[in-house]
Amino acid sequence: MATKKRTPKPRTAAKTGSNKPIVITGVPGSGKTSLAAELAKLTGAKIISINDLVAAQSLFSETDVTDGAKIVLLPKLLAAIKKEVSSAGAMAVIEGHLACELRISARLVIVCRCNPKVLRKRLALRDYGQEKSKANELCEMLDYCTLQSERNFPKSIIFEIDTSASTPAQSAQRALEIMQDIKAAAKKRAWADWSGMLFSQEIDFRSLKQ
Ligand SMILES: Nc1ncnc2c1ncn2[C@@H]1O[C@H](COP(=O)(O)OP(=O)(O)OP(=O)(O)O)[C@@H](O)[C@H]1O
Ligand SMILES: [Mg+2]
Repeated sequence: MATKKRTPKPRTAAKTGSNKPIVITGVPGSGKTSLAAELAKLTGAKIISINDLVAAQSLFSETDVTDGAKIVLLPKLLAAIKKEVSSAGAMAVIEGHLACELRISARLVIVCRCNPKVLRKRLALRDYGQEKSKANELCEMLDYCTLQSERNFPKSIIFEIDTSASTPAQSAQRALEIMQDIKAAAKKRAWADWSGMLFSQEIDFRSLKQ
């Protein structure tokens, strides 16, 4: 009996997940905006900046009087992001430190990591006070954004990039490699670990306000 050879069906974007956005998260100053800009240059992706979205659509209830941080309305932010993604019409890159707090349907999550000592220098160049900087350094030592991402996304799609060990262009190149073959990238996945600094003399957290 003659057998009919089946031609494999082309995998659609929906099946491969390639139509889903890429999420970039990480503590403030970890390099998300720089990475997103470089990645957009390489891929033509549309950038969705959470900070810009929050400001443009006033997605916050109040501003913290102690440090000026906006108290963001997360359900409203999630709805606004979904709307932006569906109207992007091209690959979208969502970037912002709050991205790790949200359940976004994503194809890849990049957590920008930064050596806390480097992070301190970066944040010192901004209007961050010492307390706010230390709080972010502490988040970095405790892997906060990675752990929070693991609560909201499958671990298989979460990757870290150490921006203190590379330029934004190199970080974007690494992100592109991961995007192109996520399974191969998973085999050599590396996680940053700055937990040892929690007990170092160099960064003293005893002065953090209660
Ligand atoms: N890979 C990198 N190598 C060297 N410097 C970097 C790198 N990524 C970012 N920087 C520098 O660190 C600073 C912070 O970067 P960036 O604004 O991209 O951080 P961010 O994570 O978007 O911060 P925020 O959450 O506050 O928006 C910038 O001065 C930038 O030039
Ligand atoms: Mg930014």
